[in-house]
Amino acid sequence: MPQRPRLWIPRRLSDATLERAQRDYDCVINWDDTESDADTLVRMSAEVDAVLPCHSEHFSAEVAARLDPRLRIIANHSVGVDHCDLAALGARGIMVTNTPDVLSDATAEIAMLLMLGAARRAVEGDTMVRQGKWDVWSPSFMVGKQVTGARVGIIGMGRVGRAFAARARGFGMQVHYANRTRLSPELEQGAIWHDSVESLLPQADFLSLHCPATPQTRGLMNADRLALMPKGAILVNTARGALVDEAALLAAIVSGHLSAAGLDCFQVEPGGNPAFAAHPNIFMLPHIGSATVSTRDAMGFRALDNLDAFFRGERPRDALT
Ligand code: DGY
Repeated sequence: MPQRPRLWIPRRLSDATLERAQRDYDCVINWDDTESDADTLVRMSAEVDAVLPCHSEHFSAEVAARLDPRLRIIANHSVGVDHCDLAALGARGIMVTNTPDVLSDATAEIAMLLMLGAARRAVEGDTMVRQGKWDVWSPSFMVGKQVTGARVGIIGMGRVGRAFAARARGFGMQVHYANRTRLSPELEQGAIWHDSVESLLPQADFLSLHCPATPQTRGLMNADRLALMPKGAILVNTARGALVDEAALLAAIVSGHLSAAGLDCFQVEPGGNPAFAAHPNIFMLPHIGSATVSTRDAMGFRALDNLDAFFRGERPRDALT
């Protein structure tokens, strides 16, 4: 029997994923589930043929330059690949793959949760009841912003953006989107296309970000663009923290220009932005958009499918380099 490829799994993936991986590969698993620094990535590259990392493992250009030639494929357990310098890894002849499609529904669910929670003051309400401080009721109490019938802007109408749009339509929202190219009517489903973010923003009572973090989109939601949103608008980010200028967002919350925000992603992760914590109208979650049992299995299986194809000598379905 030919020797099985040696695979490093640096994070604690789902049980089903680990079971299948161990059946088909000679696995080295980081059961401690700790994050790996650059030196660890470089050291492990000399010991394995493949790695199945998450977005927490940073394969920068500097790391790419130091990787051992033994490592042939980075099969990511994520759709986002901003933690990988694709150009540098491609130049080293390393295959990089991701896991699109399978996490779109779970991420769209979290975007809805954040939008609704931010709009209806979930943090304030929950804190009040939980701390035994709910001692009054009045019709003017805890009044929020209605989602039904409002306009929602979506930046990035890829798979996750469209899954979110479908849910927003279920709430009777009018969907606007900014995307490089206009979608076909079947995909657009009545959504209104804007050929620029600047044209979309004045229409966005709610704004949900669904584009990747790239050098072009870093700091996309800066002070100037936040100012283009209607007063009292709400920003939702389930994509990447790098898309938002957090100082500008905080200023927009403090001034009241934005009435609330719902964030699953931050510039610093893990940890988030401690300055946000003083503001109960910022509803925050710890990057859990894709964290459901079925989606974690699907992500692991998609990454393993990519590995299997690669070691059969085929180009993986989700090849990026
Ligand atoms: C992704 O897949 O990019 C999610 O953010 C989880 O890593």
